[in-house]
Amino acid sequence: MPTIGEALKQASNRLHDAHVPNNVLDAQTLLAEALGKDRTYLIVNYHQPLTAELLSYYESLIERRANGEPLQYITGHQEFFGLEFEVTPDVLIPRPETELIVEETIRLAEEADLTAPVILDIGTGTGCISVALARELSAARVIAVDISLAALRVAQRNAARHERAIEFVASDLLNAFADTNFADFIVSNPPYVAADEMPTLQREVRDWEPHLALTDGHDGLSLYRRLLQDAPARLRSGGFLLCELGYTQSAAVSALASPSVWHTPRLLDDLQGIPRTLVLQKR
Ligand SMILES: C[S@@+](CC[C@H](N)C(=O)[O-])C[C@H]1O[C@@H](n2cnc3c(N)ncnc32)[C@H](O)[C@@H]1O
Repeated sequence: MPTIGEALKQASNRLHDAHVPNNVLDAQTLLAEALGKDRTYLIVNYHQPLTAELLSYYESLIERRANGEPLQYITGHQEFFGLEFEVTPDVLIPRPETELIVEETIRLAEEADLTAPVILDIGTGTGCISVALARELSAARVIAVDISLAALRVAQRNAARHERAIEFVASDLLNAFADTNFADFIVSNPPYVAADEMPTLQREVRDWEPHLALTDGHDGLSLYRRLLQDAPARLRSGGFLLCELGYTQSAAVSALASPSVWHTPRLLDDLQGIPRTLVLQKR
């Protein structure tokens, strides 16, 4: 039987041949996952042989990755804001740039001395934004919304995993909520890829992540149009709408914000210097 070191070499070659980026790291992550250990274990036990059963299980994971399946759907988890989230093919895999929405919401709540804000998370997916906010703002009322019942079930499990009492609502954007100016924050990372850009996405994204989470099926802006239209009636005066943006959308989405309804839009850059989060405050 091959040793851990030999199996890793074979697997990273297989992933390299299948054009998988980060082939070495992915081979290590999947072997650590198969063994139920961390990656340090692989180094310390480099010369230890694998059992036939474990090797065959490891090879099945490597084949899934070679086939383009994202690492996180194979391992079933992804870290976000320092917390571990369950992911399934029913939900988008949380991205690091989305942490900006969480950071800015916490900062604004603290600045305004809002100890128990009402927060709506529209298009919650894994529930990553809701759970992170509920952890940091422990007295907040967090309402997680999605049009996908399958996504809401994953989000519910993630809330339970982190012991957060979040409310879950199935709704098409804000349709389920009355126009009663009750929310302090509406936060959203909506599907924003234009239909004609879908074929250009990396295959891991295009072929595996839910299209309902990626695209609006039109020009990529239609959910922003609706959110900016519908949010003011649900936000109290001085309340905030925070949205994640696609990398070319900051000007187009900012231009949708009517100056009679919103204060001047603010844009926050991600670590690559791309304007990623739009922050709007209702007048
Ligand atoms: C880009 S994902 C974001 C998931 C998660 N908030 C995150 O940041 O990782 C968009 C989410 O919006 C949901 N969605 C799509 N259209 C929707 C709609 N009309 N109303 C509510 N949710 C919607 C999708 O099911 C998906 O979970």
